[in-house]
Amino acid sequence: MLNAEQIRFFKTQGYLIVPGAMDTALCRRVRDLMWQALPPNTRLQPNDPASFVGPFSEQDESSDERHMRADYRWLNRFLGVNADVIRLIYSEFICQMAQQLLGGRLRQAVVDGSPMGSHGPAWPGGPTDPALGNEGARGVYCTLPYGNKAREADGCHTDGHPFQLGIVGLLDDCPADGGAFKVWPGSHTRLFPTFALRYDQPRVPYYPHLPAFKGISHSEAYKAELSRIIDEVEPVECYGQAGDIVFWHHRLAHAAGQNYSEQIRQAVLADFWTNDLDTLRTKPVTANMWEDWSPALQRAG
Ligand SMILES: [Fe+2]
Repeated sequence: MLNAEQIRFFKTQGYLIVPGAMDTALCRRVRDLMWQALPPNTRLQPNDPASFVGPFSEQDESSDERHMRADYRWLNRFLGVNADVIRLIYSEFICQMAQQLLGGRLRQAVVDGSPMGSHGPAWPGGPTDPALGNEGARGVYCTLPYGNKAREADGCHTDGHPFQLGIVGLLDDCPADGGAFKVWPGSHTRLFPTFALRYDQPRVPYYPHLPAFKGISHSEAYKAELSRIIDEVEPVECYGQAGDIVFWHHRLAHAAGQNYSEQIRQAVLADFWTNDLDTLRTKPVTANMWEDWSPALQRAG
């Protein structure tokens, strides 16, 4: 269970790393499932590290949102409803810690349910709205090594779909500069008041006759605060060993790290929310951003 210091850290920093929270034998099993999901004749091969370097060759690409392979990203959302993945990331131990932070009753993931990306207002070239139809974890997200790709400035963002608590779990060891999840500490308390709604925001679906009129709508206050955060806050890279997890707050600024290691960054991503989310997401933001969270978290000072 989380101690008072960890709960306080999460509250003030917006994230919390818990080393060794996942079963490493199950991590290995899920890594195998990733390789098994590739079609035959894929150039990317588990026993050939030279083949890991991105971007994906044209032959290996897939635009299916549920098993996407493009550029340096390899996202398997089908695995988000796989029994082993749900056992791994929604283990009793991890759910108990999430419950300590969130309070309430946690929504339960459904084995073999509908994976993220199955339906919803899909945006050509962009993400499918995961607010609809995701009954499991987000899935297994991998980042191929960047090789000699030029280094770019870190962008960061908050996620548009409704949930309360995110989690990223390392399925394999991930060194510094190896594409680990990146967070901007404390940004959750600065960004939360710039939204109209606590756990949601206006999203414009894709209309074929209005192709540019799509995406997530942000307030001017949000855009101004996010650029101040980028100027002022040093991001933290959540690298570590297979089995390590990081919890993060819904409104925390974050980014997928750039992978300048020689190995594939392999992680499982999932969201937590309580059964009240559909009511809470429609409520306006309040001065106390922890109103819907556990009493222990509310008390942490
Ligand atoms: Fe994100």
